[in-house]
Order: sequence, then structure tokens, then C-alpha cells
Amino acid sequence: MTDLPVTETTDSTVTSNSSLSTDVPSAQLSDQQIDLICQSLYETGWVVMEDSLSAEMVQALRTDMQQRDQNQEFFKAGIGRDKELVLRDDIRTDRICWLDGDNPVQSSFMAMLDQLMTAVNRRLFLGMNHFEAMYAIYEPGQFYKKHLDSFRGQRNRIMTLVFYLNPNWNSADGGQFLLFPEVGEQGQNVTDALQLSDAPIAKVEPEAGTVAAFLSEEFPHEVITAQATRYSIAVWFRINDGIPA
Ligand code: OGA
Ligand code: MN
Repeated sequence: MTDLPVTETTDSTVTSNSSLSTDVPSAQLSDQQIDLICQSLYETGWVVMEDSLSAEMVQALRTDMQQRDQNQEFFKAGIGRDKELVLRDDIRTDRICWLDGDNPVQSSFMAMLDQLMTAVNRRLFLGMNHFEAMYAIYEPGQFYKKHLDSFRGQRNRIMTLVFYLNPNWNSADGGQFLLFPEVGEQGQNVTDALQLSDAPIAKVEPEAGTVAAFLSEEFPHEVITAQATRYSIAVWFRINDGIPA
């Protein structure tokens, strides 16, 4: 897999940081894209859409990830919330970094998320009022086993989005995202729900610009072992529920 060439400047003395402060690509979803997301969430609870981000935005986000990674801002991902967070190498092995909106690339991306959250709320009355976004890097050999992002009754995460940032991804690179049928009533017991030996309802290549969206409490999902370095951004739209974040 090769990176897209960087074409922003011909001045080889310019540092990579300066490309972030000027000419930040915008991350705008079209009305049609927002409609498709709302309609699909309403009808089936999930959707996969290509071309949600421009090639320039993908490249800018990857550059930001790589810089933060070099600055050692990434850490090993765990399972669970806050104090209950535990490292489980048998379940997930990626490394992550929370977005803080602290530079133009991130704020452009987060403005788009904010706009989407408002649109989805207006159409589906989900009452989501904030979101968190997380960069994730999977090296060859790394995976995230079948799991749910939110547990019934906690209602801490309502909707999950995963954006992919990998131009020219090959099937042979693995790292596909698998989405399993919604748990429905069986979601009352998470362990049972995850043990259902269902066939996936979607298998998604983590190709640049593709986004997967689904209701966090309903859809178990998994990341197959990657064979090439894999970049993604997971986003959770949340609701204030009285449970401390
Ligand atoms: C997650 C997750 C999926 C992906 O971080 O919870 O399921 O494709 N990520 O990166
Ligand atoms: Mn997940």
C-alpha cells in the first residue's frame, strides 16, 4: 500500500506542520449523504457509505494521526469505561488517541460531525447531545474481536460511526470491518448476544472515505486481523444520561 503523494507545496523547506494551518480541506457531507444516513438508520439501524471524506481530508487526517503518533500521544486501547478500563490483548490490540479539536483539521472534521448529529436528531429524535472521536491505528497482526460499543440500560453511546483513511486498501490486507445482525431482545444479555454465531450482514473494506454507521447498542461488530497498517476514526454520539462519563 502506498500513501498518496503530498502535493500541497513545492517548497521542500516547509515543515509538515505548516500544511495544517493553511488550506485545511473542508469535511462537508452533502444533503443527499445526510439523507441516506438518516433514512438507513431509521429503516435498518445501519449504513455503509463510500466517499464521505475527500481525498484531501483523508490525507490531512492521516498526517495529523502520524504526527500525534510520533509525539507519542497514542496509547494502547482497552475495554470498558474510565476506571473500569482494562487492557485485553485477547480482545483488541490497536492503539488509540482521542481527538481534542485542537487544530484546524480536527475542528473541520468535528464541525461536520456536529452538523450530522443535529441532522440525525432532527429526523430521528435520538436526543444525542455530544460526541467523542478517537483515532485508531492497527498494525499488521492487530484486531478487535466481536463486541458491542454500548450496553443495554447504560445508554451512554447511541450511534457509532467509523471513518476509514486507507487509500488503495486491498482485500488481502485484511482489516475488514464485520457487522453482525442486531441483537434485539437478546441484547438484554450481552454475553449471550455476542456468542450468537450469526453470519455478518456486512463486510466493509476500510477504504479511504468509507464510513460505517450503526446504533451502538444493537450491532455487534469486529475488526478482522489487519495485514497492513490500518487507520480509522471511531465516533460515538452520546446522550446525557446521569451516568458519570
Ligand atoms: C471500535 C471499533 C471498528 C473499526 O473502536 O469500537 O469497533 O473498524 N472500530 O475500526
Ligand atoms: Mn466498536
